[in-house]
Amino acid sequence: MILQGKTILIGITGGIAAYKMCELIRRFKKSGANVKVVCTPNALNFVTKLTLQNLSQNEVFVEEFDVKEWKPEHISLADEADIMLIAPATANTISKIAQGIADNLLTSIACAFSKKMIIAPAMNCNMWQNQAVQENIRILKSRGVEILEPESGFLACGYLGKGRLCGLNKIFNAVCEWLSYSEKLKGQKVVITSGGTIEDIDPVRYISNYSSGKMGFALASCAKSMGAEVVLITTKDFEAPFKIVKVKSARDMQTALDNEFETSDIIIMAAAVADYRVKEVSAQKMKKGESDELTLELVKNPDILRGLCEKKTHQCIVGFCAESENLIENAKEKITKKGCDYLVANDISRSDIGFGAENNEVVIFDKNGETKRLEKASKSVIARQILEVISQ
Ligand code: PMT
Repeated sequence: MILQGKTILIGITGGIAAYKMCELIRRFKKSGANVKVVCTPNALNFVTKLTLQNLSQNEVFVEEFDVKEWKPEHISLADEADIMLIAPATANTISKIAQGIADNLLTSIACAFSKKMIIAPAMNCNMWQNQAVQENIRILKSRGVEILEPESGFLACGYLGKGRLCGLNKIFNAVCEWLSYSEKLKGQKVVITSGGTIEDIDPVRYISNYSSGKMGFALASCAKSMGAEVVLITTKDFEAPFKIVKVKSARDMQTALDNEFETSDIIIMAAAVADYRVKEVSAQKMKKGESDELTLELVKNPDILRGLCEKKTHQCIVGFCAESENLIENAKEKITKKGCDYLVANDISRSDIGFGAENNEVVIFDKNGETKRLEKASKSVIARQILEVISQ
C-alpha cells in the first residue's frame, strides 16, 4: 500500500548488476508505484532501453539535452519523485555525486535532488576498497544519503570479495521503509525551538549560553522528512526548507511560540532558555567604573515550557533538560514540575555530547514514568529516534 501513488526515480549506472534492476522495477510497479528510470549512457551496455521502458511503462531518460518541455528534464524528474534510488551505482557515479559533478543526466538529477536518496553500490572489490571511493561514500552518508553496502561473494570480474549489489529484497524494503517513514508526521504541525537565548546587558554585551542550535535543527529537519509542517523558532542562523522564526531573548521566543501554539500538534523545546535576564538593560554602553566589582541585577524569565503545558489543549509537548549532575533524579523532578508529555534529558557535563557537540546521548522520560535510553549517536540519529517515540 505504501507504494501506491508514489514516484520512485531509479538511476541505473554502467555495471553488470544493471540487469537485476529489471526485476526490481517489476516489483515496484506491481506494488503500485510510478517508476521513472534514468540511465547513464554506459548502463545501456548492460540492459536495453526498450526493456526498461516496457517494465516501467514510462519513457526512459538518458540524454541530458534531449529536451522536450520548457523545464529541463533533470529538474522536472527531481521535482516529481518522492525518492531517488541509484542501483547499481558505480565508483564513478558515486564519486561524481559526492563531489557535486553533474556531467550527465543522472548526475545532474542527483545534484538537483533534495529529497531522500538511496544508493546501492556495485563494483570490483578493489574499487570498493579504494580510499577515494570510501571517502566519497563517507561524504554521502554525512549528507543523509542511505548507502546499501555491497555484499561479498564471487564478482562478475572473477574476483572474490565485497562488491556485489546487495539483495533486491534489501533495496525494495529500504525504499518502502523510507516512504512509510516519510508519512509518519503527515498532517502534523511540529514547532521546535533551538539555540541559546540572548539577554542584553547593554548595546554590546549580553548573557547567553553555549547552545549551538544543532539539536533543535536536527529535530526540525527530521520532522520535515517525516512529512510534518515544521516551524523552527531559533536564535541561530539556519537555512532550511521549512519555516524559520529568528528570535533573540526568552521573551521573544515566548511570543513566537504563542503565535504558533494553537495550530501546532507537537512542540519540542530543545532551546536553552535563560532563566534570568538583566532587570534594566542599559541604553548606552556601560562604562568601566572606579570599583573593581560590578553587580548586575537579574529578574526571572518566564518559564515558557511550563506556561505552554498549563494552557495546552491537544498538543503533545516535549521538553529537554540539561543536567550536569544527578541526571535521572533531576529529570524525574522536572517532568512533574513542568507538566510536559515527554522530557529528553542530556548530560551536559560531558564535552562529547550536549551543548555544541555533533553527538548526543539522551534518556527520554514520559509522563507515566517510562524511560528509554538512546545510546550516543549523531544529533540527527538521536532526533529521528526521539521523533519515532513521540510519533507513536
Ligand atoms: O543546541 P545544541 O548545541 O545542539 O545543544 C543541545 C542542548 C544541550 C541545548 C539541548 O539538547 C538541551 O538540553 N536543551 C535544553 C536546555 C535547557 O535549557 O535545559 P533546562 O533544564 O534549563 O530547561 C528545561 C526545559 O525548560 C527546556 O526544554 C527549556 O527549553 C525550557 N525552559 C527553560 C527555562 C525557561 N525560562 N523556559 C523554558 O521553557
